[in-house]
Order: sequence, then structure tokens, then C-alpha cells
Amino acid sequence: MRFIIKNNEDEASSYAANYIINRITQFSPSEQRPFVLGLPTGSSPLGVYRILVQRYKAGEVSFENVVTFNMDEYINIPRDHQGSYHSFMWTNLFSHINIPPGNVNILDGNAPNLEAECIAYEAKIKAVGGIDLFLAGIGEDGHIAFNEPGSSLASRTRVKTLAYDTILANSRFFDDNLELVPKMALTVGVQTVLEAREVVVMVLGARKALALQQCIEQGVNHMWTLSALQLHPHPMIICDEDATLEL
Ligand code: GLP
Repeated sequence: MRFIIKNNEDEASSYAANYIINRITQFSPSEQRPFVLGLPTGSSPLGVYRILVQRYKAGEVSFENVVTFNMDEYINIPRDHQGSYHSFMWTNLFSHINIPPGNVNILDGNAPNLEAECIAYEAKIKAVGGIDLFLAGIGEDGHIAFNEPGSSLASRTRVKTLAYDTILANSRFFDDNLELVPKMALTVGVQTVLEAREVVVMVLGARKALALQQCIEQGVNHMWTLSALQLHPHPMIICDEDATLEL
């Protein structure tokens, strides 16, 4: 596992953004397929998205040949609700870069048949050749995407009921009102993430320190789902100093 410790959030974000840009720009046209990027929401990737937009505007990277798959989406909130992951992604990244809208894939939490939506999402990932690089964040309880504690490490894209701690943590995006936070979501599974050719995880701040310690210093464990990263052949964790407090 590559474990990169930076002084602060800005330096960590800049490292991750450079890494992703290098992967996109060095992706060989002879592959005759797009570069496939898995993406998270939350505050952890915000600095990365800001830098990707800046570097696109400076003409240093193009997203024309990039296809994205987001990790997760809430069930049953309108797509254009400001708390939906759909809105989050368009506001913070997609509206500011040249990605063809048809290349953006986000699970539809309002699909009439959620199970079919999840199966189709997995099939789409497969059809495009698999995910080249999955960028991720983690929850304070060590979850990756919405794979809450207790999730099967063999899980694939599915419906998941959110843990109380996750609802609490995400209430900041819903006027701090627990009632307004969706209680269920669609999420890629732990196995879906592990099948990506590379996984890059941003871990920022002291509130993630315990999760980081559990996930990398303890054994692989379904109660801290990021620990499954230990099973991946090319994982990378990029963190700031504060996140290392428990190591
Ligand atoms: C949610 C998302 C995760 C994300 C986590 C942490 O639970 N589903 O993908 O990693 O929030 O968010 P933050 O980066 O804001 O701490």
C-alpha cells in the first residue's frame, strides 16, 4: 500500500489531483476506450475537484475521453435537490470541465426499480472496461462509499440503509436537520471498488484518525470496510498530518 502523508489538506489535495491528471494525460489512445474514473462526494474530495477545474481551465487536462462513475446516491430525493450527490457533482466538478454529459454516470436513487438500477450500473462499469482509478473518501466509522459497518466485503452495487452516525455526519448538508437526511442510499459495493485497477483514498482531519488506524493497522474487517483496501494490489492512501494522530 502506498501511504502518502502531507502536511495539510491543500498539499494532500494537490498530490491527489496531480496523480489523477497524470493518469488521465498519460492514458494511451491506443487503448481505444475512455479513461474510467470512479468518484466520491463529501468534503474530502472538494480540494481535488477545485484543482482539477483549475488545471482544466489552464488547458493542462481534458476530460473529453473520461467516463465517470460516482460511488453512491441517496434514495428518494429529487436529483436537483441541493443535498443530492447529483447536484454536488455538477456544482463542484462536472459543470466546470469539458466532460461530455453522456460520460457521467450517477446512480439514480429515484429509479422505479432500484435493484435493476444497481445491476445495470455494474453492467455499465463492466461494458466500459472497468474502472481505472477509483478516488474515495472515508466516513468516521471507516466506511467506503456507503458501505456501512457490517457490509459484506464481497458486496456489489445495492441498496443500503444508512447508519445513524452517517446520517448525523451528513446532516450538515441538510441544514443540520436529521429529519431531512435521507435514510437510505444506493452504493457501489466493497467488491466493486476493489475491482478498480487503482484505488486512491483521501483521509483528511483528526476526525478520521481512528478510522485510518483501524483500517490500516488492524486486520481486514467488515466493521471498518475501508480495511478491505489491504486486499487490493494497487491501493494508495493520501492523508494530512491530522489524520495520522492515532497511528
Ligand atoms: C459519505 C459518502 C462517502 C464519504 C463520506 C465522508 O458517507 N458516501 O463516500 O467518503 O461521506 O465524507 P467527508 O469527506 O465529508 O467526511
